[in-house]
Amino acid sequence: MIGNQIIKLSSVDSTNNYTAKLIKETKISFGTVIMAGFQTHGKGQRTSFWKSDNGLNLLISIYFDSSFLNSQNLFFLSKSIALSIRKCVEKIIGLEVSIKWPNDILVNSRKIAGVLIENQWKNEKLLSSIIGIGLNVNQVVFSSIDNASSLKNLTSLNYNLNSVLNSLCSSLDTGFDNLRNFDFLDIDRQYHSFLLNHNQWSIYQKNKINFKGKLIKVDSYGKMVLELENGNKKSFDIKEVNLSI
Ligand code: BTN
Repeated sequence: MIGNQIIKLSSVDSTNNYTAKLIKETKISFGTVIMAGFQTHGKGQRTSFWKSDNGLNLLISIYFDSSFLNSQNLFFLSKSIALSIRKCVEKIIGLEVSIKWPNDILVNSRKIAGVLIENQWKNEKLLSSIIGIGLNVNQVVFSSIDNASSLKNLTSLNYNLNSVLNSLCSSLDTGFDNLRNFDFLDIDRQYHSFLLNHNQWSIYQKNKINFKGKLIKVDSYGKMVLELENGNKKSFDIKEVNLSI
């Protein structure tokens, strides 16, 4: 069960780093959630920072037993998490919530949550994953971040962080059950149904050059497969391209 144990910290460098430290010291069991009020070095994807005002948002890491997955189906973990956060946010705010490849959660084209998964391997065998989630809850001003939003921004309501955490943990639990049952077809169907710009022509950017592409699918390795204007299909890695929205 996710959240069977919750460790609350007022401030830490990064909840993902702190979890990694606890794993090394074998002081943590699967399902444990590490939650912080503030992070001095919150980590985002692609070596970016995750900035969040003190005490206003959910900053958590989950120690997850992902050993039933392998390198061929590992991206389904990412798809499953995005779907669970999406569903949880939609239930809370009652607005349409979409997923931007690979696993950003967006409402009205603004990012409300991000996920950073760090995996532990031994001899090419997956042991576990640290699932870091930043969900913007009560922060309303995002001075240094473009295109960010929060639950409060969207509804003008204040939220209790513990209640939001409970809802998120139960949504993740349901998603992980599907994952453990290897319901990959269903996860894929759902992920693509909420995927921003799926089957639409959009502008992408690679090496500062814009090009048109139609998002055909996100494959099991997490690569985005685009149809190009010349009719060719090409897959792109997470670090390679940006979607200009
Ligand atoms: C992204 O760039 O979209 C991923 C952001 C992930 C941020 C969360 S906040 C809690 C956890 N600890 C970190 O250092 N990062 C993740």
